Amino acid sequence: MRNSFVIREFQPSDADACFQIRVDAFLSKFYGHLGPNSITAAVNAYMPLDYIRMAKTMPVFVAADGREPIGFAVLKWSGSKEAEIFSLYVRLDRIRNGVGSGLVRTAENWLRESRPEIERVTASTAVPLLNQEFYEKIGFRRCGESRKDSPDGPVHVVHFAKDLMQEL
Ligand SMILES: CC(C)(COP(=O)(O)OP(=O)(O)OC[C@H]1O[C@@H](n2cnc3c(N)ncnc32)[C@H](O)[C@@H]1OP(=O)(O)O)[C@@H](O)C(=O)NCCC(=O)NCCS
Repeated sequence: MRNSFVIREFQPSDADACFQIRVDAFLSKFYGHLGPNSITAAVNAYMPLDYIRMAKTMPVFVAADGREPIGFAVLKWSGSKEAEIFSLYVRLDRIRNGVGSGLVRTAENWLRESRPEIERVTASTAVPLLNQEFYEKIGFRRCGESRKDSPDGPVHVVHFAKDLMQEL
C-alpha cells in the first residue's frame, strides 16, 4: 500500500537514502525554480555522512516503508523557545500520501513531550510555489520573507511559523 509507513528515529543506515531523496527533489522539482548553480551547490551541501553527523545533535525522523526510507525531517534549535523544520523531504513517488504531514506531526509531538519549553516551530522555503500550500494546510502561517544570496542571484525565501499549543 502506498500510504503504509511508520515514522521512527533516524539510523545511520538511512543516510544514503536521505541523501538521495533530497537530491531527487532538487533535481526534479526545484531545478526550474532555483537555477543550475544553486542546485549544484544545494546538492553538494549535504552528503550522506552529514546526516549521520546531524542526527547526533538534532532530532531526525524517518518515514519508512519496511526498511526503506520514503521521507525524513530534521529539526534544528533556533532559539530558546523555537525550533525549525530544517529539512523536510518526501520521496517523489510517495508525495501526497500523508508522509510529509506525518513527519511534521511527529516532530511537533516529540517537541511537546521532550522539549516543552519550545513554543513555536518555524519553516522556510525558497520554492513557495511548490510547498506554501502544504505548510498552510498543516497549520503554519506565513510570517515573513527575506532575500538570500545564491550562485544564480538573490532568492526569495518565505518563512512560516506555527504555535505548538495550537491544534490542527
Ligand atoms: C512538500 C512535501 C514535504 C509535502 O509532503 P507530502 O507527503 O507530499 O504532503 P502530505 O501528503 O502530507 O500533504 C498534506 C496536505 O498538504 C497539502 N499539500 C501537500 N502538497 C501540496 C502541494 N504540492 N500543493 C498543494 N497542496 C499540497 C494537501 O492539502 C495535502 O492533503 P491532501 O493530499 O489530503 O489534499 C513534499 O511534497 C516534498 O518532499 N516535496 C519536495 C521537497 C520540499 O518541497 N520540501 C519542503 C521543504 S523545502
